[in-house]
Amino acid sequence: MNMTIRLARHADAAALPAIERSAAGLFRLDPQLAWLADAEVADADLHCQAIEQARVWVAEHVDGQLSGFLRAVTLDNQLHIEELSVSRHFQGQGIGRKLLSAAIEHARAQQLCAVTLTTFADLPWNAPFYQKTGFQRLNSEATSGYLVDALNEEIAQGLPGHRRCAMRLTLP
Ligand SMILES: CC(C)(COP(=O)(O)OP(=O)(O)OC[C@H]1O[C@@H](n2cnc3c(N)ncnc32)[C@H](O)[C@@H]1OP(=O)(O)O)[C@@H](O)C(=O)NCCC(=O)NCCS
Repeated sequence: MNMTIRLARHADAAALPAIERSAAGLFRLDPQLAWLADAEVADADLHCQAIEQARVWVAEHVDGQLSGFLRAVTLDNQLHIEELSVSRHFQGQGIGRKLLSAAIEHARAQQLCAVTLTTFADLPWNAPFYQKTGFQRLNSEATSGYLVDALNEEIAQGLPGHRRCAMRLTLP
């Protein structure tokens, strides 16, 4: 596939809400989570802010089309992945893994101590996917600080807390 991963530019922001909406269509496979496919997504202004203040990578194809993005912030010397989305049509072609690798490489280059995220423990394209890349699921004792806040915020937004988990990739 002729595709590159690069840092996002302001001009990319307009394309990102549609990618997140399309990606979320995958949740229709799980009846309890199907509502997520129609849930509100971050708008272009929010993406613009993130492009300025956080780290956003996009997957760009030779024709200029964007198919996915990953947004992350540095917290407590760790890179925290806030969102990873690949448009439905492009899923299953390795783009999510490439975006994840770009974030991990950045964290290594910055000598951060870990990469973290919160996700669904039991969906095959969530925790098991991250596990394949070396992430480990944190038990409740090991989940602290901003990860607890993130999980609580997700529950407040209606996500089923018992299916959510925090994960961490420790960097040497
Ligand atoms: C998660 C997501 C970004 C993965 O992107 P992708 O480009 O489809 O993923 P890849 O093609 O790189 O596949 C990586 C792994 O994910 C898993 N996976 C991806 N899609 C899957 C699916 N539909 N069903 C089961 N497993 C799947 C597989 O384990 C795959 O590894 P494999 O190729 O060795 O089998 C994408 O599925 C998505 O946008 N999902 C909706 C939003 C979401 O769940 N985001 C993550 C929030 S934490």
